Amino acid sequence: MANSPSNSLTVLIPRPVPDTAIARLTAAGLVVKVRWRPQPFSTRRLREIIGHYDAVLSQVADPLDAATLEAAAPRCRVIAACAVGYDNIDLDAARRLGIVITNTPDVLTEAVADLTWALILSAARRTGESERVLRGGGWRGWHMLDFLGTDVFGKTLGLVGAGRIGAAVARRATGFKMPVIYWARSDKPEMNALGARRVELNDLLAGSDFISLQLSLNDDTRGLIDAAAISRMKKGAYFINAARGALVDEAALIEALRTGHLAGAGLDVYRTEPNFNRALLDLPNVVLLPHIGSATVETRNRMAALAADNIIAVLHGRPALTPIG
Ligand code: GLV
Repeated sequence: MANSPSNSLTVLIPRPVPDTAIARLTAAGLVVKVRWRPQPFSTRRLREIIGHYDAVLSQVADPLDAATLEAAAPRCRVIAACAVGYDNIDLDAARRLGIVITNTPDVLTEAVADLTWALILSAARRTGESERVLRGGGWRGWHMLDFLGTDVFGKTLGLVGAGRIGAAVARRATGFKMPVIYWARSDKPEMNALGARRVELNDLLAGSDFISLQLSLNDDTRGLIDAAAISRMKKGAYFINAARGALVDEAALIEALRTGHLAGAGLDVYRTEPNFNRALLDLPNVVLLPHIGSATVETRNRMAALAADNIIAVLHGRPALTPIG
């Protein structure tokens, strides 16, 4: 990455992004340095270079801990996360150092809700498992007892968390005539308007046929779904997670799937991505996706545009459009 004139405002894009972000930043007169490698920088390398930029357009899992933010200050004024989750960023440190942090809420809500439903339906109807049989040449023709899954319509859906994405998942559930229960700190009018009912977490775990995590990862929620929580789930329930892997005790989940306590699971996220517990590969009743919740062309373009607009606003002296905190 070449040096830029010392008086120009420079934006670091540490991994590939849709062209729309680069075009917007450039049109706003900013110098953009893109690193065209999909893997995040190592923490050490990011700390070495981040202090040379006025802004960073970051992504899920970029290591933005306190020491890295200290290396970014005082030059860096804004870090725009191209994601709704920001568990990789030390917000207290950013506040202390005067670095504005932004994320991309709303623009990805519907795509992630769609993907959550893809996991629900795939897990219930064993689509991954049956496709693997067909592709492997093992299908011997239709018969009554082959690939039996479970009905989705009419079953109870439990949403752990009820923010924007939770509400979008609940909205889709009305088409499946599913009673929806949710766990949240306060009543959510949008959920209640859909006929959803707020309940205690233990009642949700015990009363749901499908349990989906719809909450962000922070110190209060890390490990929320531990072995005890999993043991409270209804026998034969399905567990869905398109939120964050560290919300769940993966080993306890695997054990519950192995013993048949849970009938299946749909996972898009893992504790230490891109690594995941290889024992999951031996479980045919689990749908495994590589963190693709917001991965549509339209949504990723909207995320990139919003992140770029946040950077432009802050570097041009205006308030950020979607600041965190
Ligand atoms: C993706 O996981 C996001 O937080 O946007």
